[in-house]
Amino acid sequence: MPSLPIYLDNNATTRTDPRVLEAMVPYFTARYGNAASRHHVFGRDAEEAVQQAREQVAALLGAEAREIVFTSGATESDNLALKGAAWMQRQLKKGDHLVTAATEHHAVLDPAKRLQREGFSLTVLPVDRAGRVTVEQVAAALTERTILVSIMAANNEVGTLQPVAEIGRLCKERGILFHSDAVQAVGKVPLDVQAAGIDLLSLTAHKLYGPKGVGALYVRRRNPHVRLEPLLDGGGHERGLRSGTLPVPLIVGFGVACELCRHEMAEESQRLLRLREKLRAGIMDGLKGVCLNGPAEERLPGNLNLSFAGVHGEALLIGLKDLAVSSGSACTSANPEPSYVLRAMGLSDELAHASIRFGLGRFTTEEEIDWAIRAVIREVQRLRALNPEQEFANPINRTG
Ligand SMILES: Cc1ncc(COP(=O)(O)O)c(C=O)c1O
Repeated sequence: MPSLPIYLDNNATTRTDPRVLEAMVPYFTARYGNAASRHHVFGRDAEEAVQQAREQVAALLGAEAREIVFTSGATESDNLALKGAAWMQRQLKKGDHLVTAATEHHAVLDPAKRLQREGFSLTVLPVDRAGRVTVEQVAAALTERTILVSIMAANNEVGTLQPVAEIGRLCKERGILFHSDAVQAVGKVPLDVQAAGIDLLSLTAHKLYGPKGVGALYVRRRNPHVRLEPLLDGGGHERGLRSGTLPVPLIVGFGVACELCRHEMAEESQRLLRLREKLRAGIMDGLKGVCLNGPAEERLPGNLNLSFAGVHGEALLIGLKDLAVSSGSACTSANPEPSYVLRAMGLSDELAHASIRFGLGRFTTEEEIDWAIRAVIREVQRLRALNPEQEFANPINRTG
């Protein structure tokens, strides 16, 4: 019997790896200098620690250390990428059109919509049943005025991997900047900014077993040298792109977390893929009327998203009280909205409401997966028994 409750919500956040925490602690206690205080030993010690972390983050992306700008997290990185690039490109009179996709995170969609209110034009591309955009769709959306394309590397709800390398190549050919929100992909699947032709890339530590409150934006320095308008004015830290005293302990943790991912990702992703497939097969073999949301193959190894016909995701969440998962409805209001991601993929409101996201991670065990399979089957059967006249034949298979 695994110890309860079981955490299967690693797309929301991950536990800080104990090795990461251990590396951080001295920077809260003895080594507390300000990384900008280069005139004394405490400051230089902190600056060196930040530089090492910058190299560790860069190495995971195939980037150079000086191309990494530390931020408070991916929400800030996405805002800096979109607004910073759009404002600068407008100043340089390059154009005013942005392209993104319907299933992006709000940290991309909302800055894009704000830029639209400021007078930029915006194309939001639809996705297919698996949540994918194609390079042909992006190509068809480009105009003479397009300055930035922003397409995520992997989706946070359904784990769909986007063809970022193809999109990057297209943008390079057309001389258009390419940003990717790679929060869910970095450290989980191989991603190299050179190979993928990415000019701006957002990442955050808390999705890769690092601490919350720190992230980074990769900003390409060569071919082309990307220029951004900063969001914040102040002390001119991070080469003027992000003023504010650097959170050294968090940055140290972020660096170690990236280093661990770089070394362990290949093995870890194989293990997670096996456990994810065990969970999927175990639930789908044990229950009728379950469909997979998102692609069967081109998805994050640790992500599983299922809809259970005839069951409300919120009710299932409540019933599965020892299992920390997420549902496809925003449970913040009295009248929950179905997930806009699942709706954009063509799911009915009913199936979107009936969805559950399972996020497996580094600390997920086989025993926990076995327990989760039994618990989900039991709870779905119990909820369906409350509504016995419904028949749960396979609802359209959307494995795409
Ligand atoms: C795809 C994606 N982008 C951006 C974010 C925001 O990241 P942060 O929590 O670091 O602001 C998240 C986290 O939920 C995410 O999954």
